[in-house]
Amino acid sequence: MVVLADPLGVLTGGPRRPGHLRRVGRGPVEGRVIRVRPAMPNDTTACGSLFAEAYADGDGFLTGPTEPRSFTLPPAIPDGPTALVAEIDGSVQGVVLIQGSALARLRHCRTIELVVARTARGGGVGGALLDAALDSLRSRTGVQFVRLAVFVDNIPALTLYHSRGFIEEGRRIGFACEADGRLRDDLLMVRTLP
Ligand SMILES: CC(C)(COP(=O)(O)OP(=O)(O)OC[C@H]1O[C@@H](n2cnc3c(N)ncnc32)[C@H](O)[C@@H]1OP(=O)(O)O)[C@@H](O)C(=O)NCCC(=O)NCCS
Repeated sequence: MVVLADPLGVLTGGPRRPGHLRRVGRGPVEGRVIRVRPAMPNDTTACGSLFAEAYADGDGFLTGPTEPRSFTLPPAIPDGPTALVAEIDGSVQGVVLIQGSALARLRHCRTIELVVARTARGGGVGGALLDAALDSLRSRTGVQFVRLAVFVDNIPALTLYHSRGFIEEGRRIGFACEADGRLRDDLLMVRTLP
């Protein structure tokens, strides 16, 4: 992969802005520029469509294919963006949600959720979003841990999280029960921020 900036791929030119990044895609988006930026309110429909597409696939998230869920971007907070989008040629191809808690005892933690358009997967969009999210979180005072949950059989996501320094901190046995009764475990993962 060609990286257009520093090792984290932060935006070239001008001052470094956490949450912004540019990369050149590979595979299905070979040679195309992936631009990551904070989400704006008018990205809501595009982001909702990406999650709806993943729910329809039925295997990446707890929400099932027949359980449409309304989507809203997480409310803005003062310390940084709560959602980043990756766009190619102006079209949103992926989103990462970064959520905190109102509880004071959880002020040092954030959780993330990540989805990439089916046609762009394997092209570097997910990695770019996760790198930009971690970079953005590093710049926030007091944030020490990033957490997420992932099904044990979601190999693309697991590979991505391991490659970005997430470690497994727990396994929820039979966490999801599929329509046919099959039980699926998920993993709780955490990434410590320096
Ligand atoms: C998981 C997901 C976000 C990854 O996004 P992506 O754009 O396909 O990921 P990338 O192309 O940036 O690849 C990231 C890493 O994962 C690895 N990877 C990607 N697809 C993979 C696959 N099918 N099998 C194994 N590894 C894979 C790559 O090797 C890559 O590693 P590298 O950056 O060190 O080269 C995407 O597949 C997706 O949206 N899946 C459906 C929704 C979902 O499951 N979300 C996660 C819920 S926890």
